[in-house]
Amino acid sequence: MRKRLLMSYQTLFRNIDAFEIDYVPEFFNYRESQLDDLAYQVRPALEGGRALSAVCRGLPGTGKTTSVLRIFAELEQTTKKILPVYVNCQNDRTKYMVYSRIYAAIFGHAPARTGVSIKSVMDAIGGALQQQERSLIVCLDDANLLHYNNTLGDVINSLLRLHQDYPGARAAVFATVSDMDLDLVTELNRWVISPFRPSDIYFPPYDADEIRGILRDRIRIGLYPGVISGPMLDCIVEQTMESGDVRVGLDLVKRAVLNAECAARTEVVEEDITAAYEQSKHVHLACTIRALSADERRLLRRIAELSQEQSGPLVSGAIYGRVEETPKVGYTIFSRQLRKLDSLRLVDLIRVQAGGRTSEVALRYEPEKVREVCE
Ligand SMILES: Nc1ncnc2c1ncn2[C@@H]1O[C@H](COP(=O)(O)OP(=O)(O)OP(=O)(O)O)[C@@H](O)[C@H]1O
Ligand SMILES: [Mg+2]
Repeated sequence: MRKRLLMSYQTLFRNIDAFEIDYVPEFFNYRESQLDDLAYQVRPALEGGRALSAVCRGLPGTGKTTSVLRIFAELEQTTKKILPVYVNCQNDRTKYMVYSRIYAAIFGHAPARTGVSIKSVMDAIGGALQQQERSLIVCLDDANLLHYNNTLGDVINSLLRLHQDYPGARAAVFATVSDMDLDLVTELNRWVISPFRPSDIYFPPYDADEIRGILRDRIRIGLYPGVISGPMLDCIVEQTMESGDVRVGLDLVKRAVLNAECAARTEVVEEDITAAYEQSKHVHLACTIRALSADERRLLRRIAELSQEQSGPLVSGAIYGRVEETPKVGYTIFSRQLRKLDSLRLVDLIRVQAGGRTSEVALRYEPEKVREVCE
């Protein structure tokens, strides 16, 4: 008899969706103060005015997107005075695409594909906001991806100046950025005087106890009781803290349980976690690379190439000597870029000599994988 590849086995998952990347968690703790801050920004719009703008800043996986979406969901359920529009800048990278999202939120369908100018899309939006007396809040999620060519400045400035062409139309912007070095306000003012005066809402990384709490809540919903013991959860938390990204932990739980199922066990053991981590850690890599500027991404790729070419340890000075970009950045900027890769836990910087300028640079991922993701 042929071996059956897909045996019917007993599943350990009560709800496997709870570990998917787009799952909306029912428990969302540790972000009360950020949610309060966002609610505060919205308040003027509830009273018939314009909402205040905000920038949500924090490393990848710190709950920025989830926080904005929670506030937006609540607004949709409770008030007609505000029109919240969520734009994922990973998908919508041009001004036209952003305005198409807003148009779709108002009219229920996207503007016709051809022959519609951005001006007429904006006319329709401005007119509808005036007529419906609704205050617009646009979330530009991962706004740093619109940053290049000043698309971001154009989008934000045009939204905040909507009332100049359409009196009574009110709009505010919530931007999220995971690039901690990007100062949006200064950046935007480099081009024109920008009306953007956002409040800064900071999302600190979760500590080990918070990661444990988040994973425990998710396990309770997603798995049958007893699948992951306390010590195994500790092991998962410890691995997650390597990258500091909750997403790694969620992915790790899912893969470890799948491994246990494959081995026909009803409980996760340490080897399930170790094997799963080899895959899960890449979740962090993929998410984090979005937080890099084009230059930083190029540097990371160069480090990956050099670590493939070279067998001994890489030192910072040697990397700098082999950077091929023209014009070459100064050493100070180069050092800052390296420190950022370190703070994002993409590389480890190890001081060779106390007080010296030279560090050893160790890539935390397989070079092959890094090159693949950077491209
Ligand atoms: N406090 C929390 N409670 C429960 N789940 C959380 C919490 N914070 C984050 N998560 C989960 O972690 C994942 C990442 O969160 P989110 O997408 O909101 O992060 P982010 O800050 O927007 O990250 P990025 O900068 O990479 O876009 C999501 O799956 C989310 O459900
Ligand atoms: Mg996000």
